[in-house]
Amino acid sequence: MDLNELTRRCAALLAGNQVQSGAFRYTRPAPETYEHQWLWDSCFHAITYRWFDPQMAQDELWSLVQHQFTAGDDAGLIPHMTYWQGDGTRLWARPDRSTITQPPLIGIAALLVYEKTADRDFLASLYPYLVRYHEWFDRRRDPDGDDLVSIIHPWESGWDASPRWDAPMHLHHPSVQETHDARDAHMPILHAYGHDAQKLAEDGYFCVESVEFNAIRVADLQALARIAAILNQPAGVWTSRAAAITAAIQQKFITPSGIFDLSGPDETPIQVPSSAPFILLLGACVDPATAAALVQQMNSDRFWPTYPVPTTPTDHPAFVGDHYWRGNVWMSVNWLIYTGLRTMGYTAEARELAYRSLDLVEQHGFYEYFNPLTGHGNGPAQQSWTAVVLDMIATAT
Ligand code: GLC
Repeated sequence: MDLNELTRRCAALLAGNQVQSGAFRYTRPAPETYEHQWLWDSCFHAITYRWFDPQMAQDELWSLVQHQFTAGDDAGLIPHMTYWQGDGTRLWARPDRSTITQPPLIGIAALLVYEKTADRDFLASLYPYLVRYHEWFDRRRDPDGDDLVSIIHPWESGWDASPRWDAPMHLHHPSVQETHDARDAHMPILHAYGHDAQKLAEDGYFCVESVEFNAIRVADLQALARIAAILNQPAGVWTSRAAAITAAIQQKFITPSGIFDLSGPDETPIQVPSSAPFILLLGACVDPATAAALVQQMNSDRFWPTYPVPTTPTDHPAFVGDHYWRGNVWMSVNWLIYTGLRTMGYTAEARELAYRSLDLVEQHGFYEYFNPLTGHGNGPAQQSWTAVVLDMIATAT
């Protein structure tokens, strides 16, 4: 499939999933299954739209920040879900938005969209929302003050059922349904604890310093610094935050026995291998030697089967290629790894990943996620973020 044909198909897919709500427009992750607006999905949608509909790319990010919390302990939080039709009450005790977040890449997306639009005014409108969002992270999600933020629900990672979350969710060899039920059952606990990370951690509930979440945050803060510079605002504060988090990542996540998320007040390493450490390349959170070691690991069969990159290595006991987040290929994750590879100078590897990802879509369709061994598509067949493969192909050199 050439770039024009790919662009045409991605544009058709996203157009079919677009929703207008009053003055705002967003894109459903998938018809029927995912009718609402999701945070990191919308970022990937904007990154895709920039190639054929930059105005919609901006509209997608603009609608995304509309439900930022403006009052209460969580003022500044941008919710991981916006319910434009208002049916969120079952889980969130309010109709219009969720009370947790998702990987912060709105700044990254905004900067990529700006590359196409050169629209400073749009960046200026978005900037205060992004500032409040990152201030919220520092205020609410770093209870031990070590510069690494914690997630308080697996949904916040976006990797809902990853085997990494089994132990912190107190699950042992769970079925997919059990992980699902545990995530639902965790919501009343968050409400009871006022979403207070410190108290949740003290009482043994899920509170995890996630490797890739913090790496994405570093890249987002670097993007925020670039945006600030474009707007003639002080950028140093963001560069310093990014540098402090990078130092903490290197000091705490990277150990001789591996790179692991840290759980609870004791920062217990979650010794479950995954592709998350490859996302450290995004934001250049590792030194060149560590980057080379990560790329070497990624190139091994367990992470580079027919279709790279599975979120759980194929030789791990928890790996199931067709089970949701237990070891699949997700285009969102592939994009983060692809972009990280390019950030650290691995352009040939990035290109290979882009074209393997394109093969997957060409042969199997725009599914939500794929089996890395067979390519079999799972979940909705019209998943919007799978179109982000376009950004990989359009930038691969
Ligand atoms: C699933 C995924 C999550 C994504 C959402 C919408 O819940 O686990 O990462 O944001 O679907 O696509």
